[in-house]
Amino acid sequence: MRKDTFSYKVTSTVASVWDNIKRVFSSQADPEAEKKEEADSADQAEATKEEEEKAEEGMWEETFKSHSDSKPNGPSSISLDFSLPGVEHVYGIPEHADDLKLKTTDNGDPYRLFNLDVFQYELYNPMALYGAVPVMLAHNAQRTTGIFWLNAAETWVDISSNTAGKIPQTDVRWISESGIIDVFIMLGPTPKHVFSQYASLTGTQSFPPLASLGYHQCRWNYNDQEDVRSVDAGFDEYDIPYDFIWLDIEHTDGKRYFTWDPHKFATPKEMLQGLMDKKRKMVAIVDPHIKIDSNYKIHNEIRSRGFYVKNKDGGDYEGWCWPGNAGYPDFTRADMRAWWASMFAYDQYEGSMENLYTWNDMNEPSVFNGPEVTMHKDAVHGDWENRDVHNLYGLYVQMATADGLVQRSGGVERPFVLTRAFFAGSQRYGAVWTGDNAAEWDHLKISIPMCLSLGLVGISFCGADVGGFFKSPTPELLVRWYQTGAYQPFFRAHAHLDTPRREPWLFGPENTALIREAVRQRYTFLPYWYQQFYHAYRTGEPVMRPLWVEYTQDPATFAVDDEFLIGQNLLVHPVTEEGARGVTAYLPGKEEVWFDIHTFQKHNGAQNLYIPVTMSSIPVFQRGGSIIPRKMRVRRSSSCMEHDPYTLYAALNARGVAEGELYIDDGHTFNYEKKEFIHRRLSFSNNVLSSVYVQRSSFCLKHKSTSMIKSKFRRQLEFDFDASMSVVTVRKPGMNAGADWTVTLQ
Ligand code: NOJ
Repeated sequence: MRKDTFSYKVTSTVASVWDNIKRVFSSQADPEAEKKEEADSADQAEATKEEEEKAEEGMWEETFKSHSDSKPNGPSSISLDFSLPGVEHVYGIPEHADDLKLKTTDNGDPYRLFNLDVFQYELYNPMALYGAVPVMLAHNAQRTTGIFWLNAAETWVDISSNTAGKIPQTDVRWISESGIIDVFIMLGPTPKHVFSQYASLTGTQSFPPLASLGYHQCRWNYNDQEDVRSVDAGFDEYDIPYDFIWLDIEHTDGKRYFTWDPHKFATPKEMLQGLMDKKRKMVAIVDPHIKIDSNYKIHNEIRSRGFYVKNKDGGDYEGWCWPGNAGYPDFTRADMRAWWASMFAYDQYEGSMENLYTWNDMNEPSVFNGPEVTMHKDAVHGDWENRDVHNLYGLYVQMATADGLVQRSGGVERPFVLTRAFFAGSQRYGAVWTGDNAAEWDHLKISIPMCLSLGLVGISFCGADVGGFFKSPTPELLVRWYQTGAYQPFFRAHAHLDTPRREPWLFGPENTALIREAVRQRYTFLPYWYQQFYHAYRTGEPVMRPLWVEYTQDPATFAVDDEFLIGQNLLVHPVTEEGARGVTAYLPGKEEVWFDIHTFQKHNGAQNLYIPVTMSSIPVFQRGGSIIPRKMRVRRSSSCMEHDPYTLYAALNARGVAEGELYIDDGHTFNYEKKEFIHRRLSFSNNVLSSVYVQRSSFCLKHKSTSMIKSKFRRQLEFDFDASMSVVTVRKPGMNAGADWTVTLQ
């Protein structure tokens, strides 16, 4: 942690001014005291001079270990204090590896927002990580509000609990190194109002392709095409579904992105076609540092167009990264982004095909030989120093890449792009992951508050490296991680280059079976995940959400971050303790009932429920009052399940009523914007289950006549009744998912 940053300087300058004021007001007309005072003030003068010199030192230049970064415009900072009367719980301002409820920072460093490539980050720490969203939510039982401090410079947030008044109060100080004060207060009054108010400023989560909600298999690296082929075959052999296999930096020709290693990946199209034949896809990494090599087309074009970020003297900024000496395209320029996007065209990105998608890593940006492993703040983006726009760089990289994937398909297909660095608004361009975690239990635990915090500030598509990036997980940790990841929005296993292989079948048949089961559970819930993402895209509400978002008046939920909700209807309390024999889940809502999704056992809210667990347990509950669509025939990949039937799980509330939705579209194009979808409201009451449309879609209109014919058609259906658990199973109802229908239990 850097101790010589501007905020400390601001504080120390303020302190010395304050000391002088105190001295002036406290001097007395006593000769002894005056002498002492004189001596003191000589010392003080000396100290002040030293301080001034020290401050002067940092005014025009900052040093970080062996690095120095100039400040051609001198020192600056802006700050504003906010008092939040009645508030004891504040959340948000990701990215930090910390609890969901933010801590007071009186006795330590403030939360820092400055996108950095951090090596082996520490947990429960306010240090800066890869991304920054300067948005804080404040909540109490009466009201939720939000503060959006729109500033992309290095920012610090101090939080203190003010106990001076009659009611509790939280005080928040925002300090940024440069820029103007540009603040939005989101007045709520409910969390959902705050989400929509914030979405009106920065946009909602992009609606991802359905396949990207399936399971992703990654490691640094799959070595060659044969390796890809055999890992792909392994999934079939062990009957584990997956949608995407990933290639890390070693797949390129010498870390030249948009190229393939000519020996290891000599025929990429053949490889991609092989995957396509199985309805599977691939992601290849494209980082934003460009090898300086006059034989590399991408570099030559960027240089000749003047698209690189400049150093303070006007030359191209150069830094060290994976390829060695590299330039950094200036993604803040619209013309640069348009050019970058054009590089994803099939005739530009050789060897690419429709089932190849993109991973943007190292986009803080990471500069191995830069101060704090990032770009010098005096580097120049047009009229701006990097100091002013630093936290926006990663957003622009992902924006340009996502545009590229859309454009290569003529605007037809939805993109999928994963990014490590992000800022407010990044939700519009794809998914985010929590960077280089480790194969440790605490890293598994922290994945929950890290993703919850991101969801609260609009970024729903979040996940952590399943298994942990550094180090090797024990089989128990790996299994528990799969079980947790299967219920988090972005579900990808990943591992460091130096770790032993860890494909799901390498830990013995029992563990393979446990992992298979977790992944299969994910696939059965894909219709629900997809519907939740459609909802997030429409409303800005988080997919994975803290309990307090739904149970706003129950203080017992306010600090819960070892369990979470997916939408309103699934509550997940993953097992994240080594050797756990049980977990205690809080089931919220005095009026609610919760059903164990595996046993259908019913539990009343609100209570702390102890759940004994074995290695196969994933404690998940469906809210009584909800209907969740699932697909129970799991196949090789989500696309292989496209035409399979839905199974509706209706869990009744205390009044014998349940409601839900069913959303279906083609899963990959933008045609949902033209209302080419099926969007049904499902409800159960008075022993009648029915389906009616929520939004009239063009698809429904086309099929109107069919649905009218069907609705006149009555027949008896087969069913089973398990009296012990009060479960009715109606088999093969043969309903058309796009039509109006009713099923009456008599
Ligand atoms: C750093 C990323 O965080 C990690 O996921 C990736 O494997 C390496 N870079 C290599 O590309």
